[in-house]
Amino acid sequence: MKFEDMLNTITLGNSYELIKEIPDNSIDLIYVDIPYLIDNFGGGTSELARRITKLNKEDIGFISKGINYSILDDFIRVLKKVNIFIWCNKNQILDIMNYFREYYCDILVWCKTNPIPNCNNNWISNIEYCLYFRENTVKLNDGYELKSKWFLSSTNKEDKQKYKHPTIKPLELVKRHIAHTTKKREVILDCFSGSGTTCVAAKELGRQFIGIEIAPEYHKISLDRLNGILANGQISLDTIMEVKNDKKV
Ligand SMILES: C[S@@+](CC[C@H](N)C(=O)[O-])C[C@H]1O[C@@H](n2cnc3c(N)ncnc32)[C@H](O)[C@@H]1O
Repeated sequence: MKFEDMLNTITLGNSYELIKEIPDNSIDLIYVDIPYLIDNFGGGTSELARRITKLNKEDIGFISKGINYSILDDFIRVLKKVNIFIWCNKNQILDIMNYFREYYCDILVWCKTNPIPNCNNNWISNIEYCLYFRENTVKLNDGYELKSKWFLSSTNKEDKQKYKHPTIKPLELVKRHIAHTTKKREVILDCFSGSGTTCVAAKELGRQFIGIEIAPEYHKISLDRLNGILANGQISLDTIMEVKNDKKV
């Protein structure tokens, strides 16, 4: 598949293969929310996991087995300069930080105001981690909110309902990250694109994007989302408002 055919759309496929089609030094930012390495679901494809997320076994497998770190070599290869956000869970932080140890690093967090309470021998799961790595020569844009290392919001129950992805990230936060680290028309790659949050954020900010998603269900949902259509087939309110506003002009 050609690079041009992947540009500004989301391709159905396996990133470990498709990333090989992306030329060296062609990407300005990688923004990925990798499949988490989940250790308390009985291997990730258990009946418990299936009941919690209401997904079939195969799709649970895609989102709960972590990644093969060999793809990080391709990340470095395709980037013009190292400029990468990686959402991951605590089991993956050490390996990823070790891999990128020669680069400038920040640990960003999304703090949730309404996490699910628990009474087991554990902390409440109210923080998600996003690691950011860059070369010193990557210039960051200004803006007080853009520069914040934390973001506070409720768990995005509404987005989960709209786009049916259990680990969907807040669009507003993803837009801040992208606006901080890229310029208009630059190219952003998300090779674990899920419900398409990165691609929608990029599109709304006037950036170019490449999305890759392996699960056919999420691939369809994300393509529809790019066109303003919800997972239940309805047109989103935002799209209706945009059309109305365009007519006023
Ligand atoms: C953590 S989720 C991303 C969620 C996304 N940030 C959002 O807001 O919707 C990771 C996604 O990677 C997909 N995935 C897993 N392995 C993949 C692979 N080898 N190639 C492409 N996508 C993959 C999963 O199906 C899942 O949807």
